[in-house]
Amino acid sequence: MPFKPVDTHLPAFNPFEKFGSEWALLTAGDSRGVNTMTVSWGCLGVLWNRDVATVYVRPQRYTKEFIDRTGRFTLSFYAPEHKAALGVLGRVSGRDEDKIARVGLTPIELGGDFAFEEAELVLACRVLYADEIDPKLFWDASCDERNYPEHDYHTAYVAEVERAYVRTQGAAQEGAL
Ligand SMILES: Cc1cc2nc3c(=O)[nH]c(=O)nc-3n(C[C@H](O)[C@H](O)[C@H](O)COP(=O)(O)O)c2cc1C
Repeated sequence: MPFKPVDTHLPAFNPFEKFGSEWALLTAGDSRGVNTMTVSWGCLGVLWNRDVATVYVRPQRYTKEFIDRTGRFTLSFYAPEHKAALGVLGRVSGRDEDKIARVGLTPIELGGDFAFEEAELVLACRVLYADEIDPKLFWDASCDERNYPEHDYHTAYVAEVERAYVRTQGAAQEGAL
């Protein structure tokens, strides 16, 4: 297996860089199929005494159907050479074409969850809580105005980070995260 399990308390992980600048893939699936999409909005932290990841998914995303069906997802992080692939996966819907084949990433199953062999780091997550952003609750109306002209409010998924893996073949090592 090209990955090894590591402590979920990652020794070096800058969430602002990892999500905001480098982006991640949010992947979910089961025996019926797998889908993935690029995300740049996300959080890692602690809630309800658990290590959690929170992701934000608009209602029209095909990946949302897979998360809602399985209650699970992975977040996977990549070296810069894969950024173009993440760009495509964040522009094309799996509803319309086999975008995973198009970008040439290799799906892999990790303990029943799905990610891609090319990842440097994979977090396997189980959904604990989900709720749709409620426009009535914005304290700063500009967040609503700037991000939701179509009123397609994200669902926030708070998920327990159950396992973490780093790639052992081809470059990535723990210290390089
Ligand atoms: C850099 C980048 C970041 C993105 N972040 C998010 C996000 O956090 N939440 C979201 O719902 N969509 C986000 N998207 C859009 C989805 O990745 C995109 O709509 C994708 O095609 C959905 O694929 P799907 O329909 O196969 O699930 C992002 C796109 C890009 C390019």
